[in-house]
Amino acid sequence: MVLEGKKIVLAVSGSIAAYKSALLIRLLVKQGVEVKVVMTKAATNFITPLSLSTLSKNAVVLDWEENNVWNNHVSLGLWGDLMLVAPASANTIAKMAHGICDNQLIATYLSARCPILICPAMDEDMYKHPSTQNNIKKLLAYGNHLMDVGNGELASGLVGPGRMAEPEEIVQTLQKMLCT
Ligand SMILES: Cc1cc2nc3c(=O)[nH]c(=O)nc-3n(C[C@H](O)[C@H](O)[C@H](O)COP(=O)(O)O)c2cc1C
Repeated sequence: MVLEGKKIVLAVSGSIAAYKSALLIRLLVKQGVEVKVVMTKAATNFITPLSLSTLSKNAVVLDWEENNVWNNHVSLGLWGDLMLVAPASANTIAKMAHGICDNQLIATYLSARCPILICPAMDEDMYKHPSTQNNIKKLLAYGNHLMDVGNGELASGLVGPGRMAEPEEIVQTLQKMLCT
């Protein structure tokens, strides 16, 4: 099952797991996928747009005020065969669930016509909080797809559920979603 020729929008939000997006892009590009990245402002504290732009060989879409140039705020959502939100922070999940469109990532999400795969990443208690769980249920009810979080060591030092799925697992899920 090859992903060659597929177009994937990778949406990166503000989690320590953002370092995994670099590896994810490498794996996808190696398979011949065209990757375009959109990042939240918080995500840029964890990994640089320059790194993700270099790996994806495409310009990274940032928030309006960062760009200072006009760009079509819905074009990325219409471009992709799939939108992958990885890592999806608790905050971004909440905004997606409620349609709070105050950044380019959410504008892309709301305008996307393609399938959406969400890969949450957060501390155990944030993940288990009823608010996060209800938001995830809402997103599933809207037809979005979800990658289960992994169990293990978390950035907080706690051990439990909340780790973002590993890039290799995400690629396998993408293959199932896009190549069958
Ligand atoms: C060191 C550090 C690590 C963080 N890791 C996470 C995380 O893994 N998951 C999460 O939901 N929020 C995490 N946060 C909090 C988010 O960065 C914060 O809620 C931010 O507003 C998210 O914005 P965004 O959803 O627009 O990217 C972390 C914050 C810090 C300072």
